[in-house]
Amino acid sequence: MLGSGKGSNFVAIADAVAAGRIPAEVAVVLSDVESAGILAHARDRKIPAQYIPPGKFRTKLDEEAERAFVSALQAAKVDLIVLAGFMRVLKGDFLRAFEGRIVNIHPSLLPSFPGLEAWKQALDHGVKVAGCTVHFVDAGVDCGPIIGQQTVPVLDTDKPETLHQRIHAAEHELYPKCVAAIAGGGISVAGRRVIWKK
Ligand code: GRF
Repeated sequence: MLGSGKGSNFVAIADAVAAGRIPAEVAVVLSDVESAGILAHARDRKIPAQYIPPGKFRTKLDEEAERAFVSALQAAKVDLIVLAGFMRVLKGDFLRAFEGRIVNIHPSLLPSFPGLEAWKQALDHGVKVAGCTVHFVDAGVDCGPIIGQQTVPVLDTDKPETLHQRIHAAEHELYPKCVAAIAGGGISVAGRRVIWKK
């Protein structure tokens, strides 16, 4: 799992693994942020956790960092890369090394509101239903095949923080279910369509 922030989605997934709801193990947690909560949560659970400096760019990894991430993931023999609040866009060599094996969660009902602060974009747009999306990662930003989505209502009284909290709670339900389906061989991909077999 890769993350840059609090790590609440990591906690939801690690708890689901521990409870036997996901037939997999979290092999390693990597972060581009040394103080990220996700690393602390992983260490609390005795899961290998490593900070890898991202290099000179702000929104992507530089070449050396990309190589370091890929080596660490290959060394841990991962089958699936779960992005949980990883704030850098993955590019060429990284994507090629793990083609079709990277998933992400985004706090909107894609394809609406890709990019940053999606919950605020949704509120500013005036939508009445918001939510989150788990999708495969391809070369675009927030646009690979959609695995699962969960909706939440937008209330007239919502502020960005309250809507964000409601979406975050939905993420903690949706992401473990999607990872469990992938790990259990329960989905197949046909072009842009992800089919749930059971
Ligand atoms: C989530 O809102 C997710 O949708 C976005 O980053 C956030 C990560 O939160 N990609 P956390 O670090 O898992 O708490």
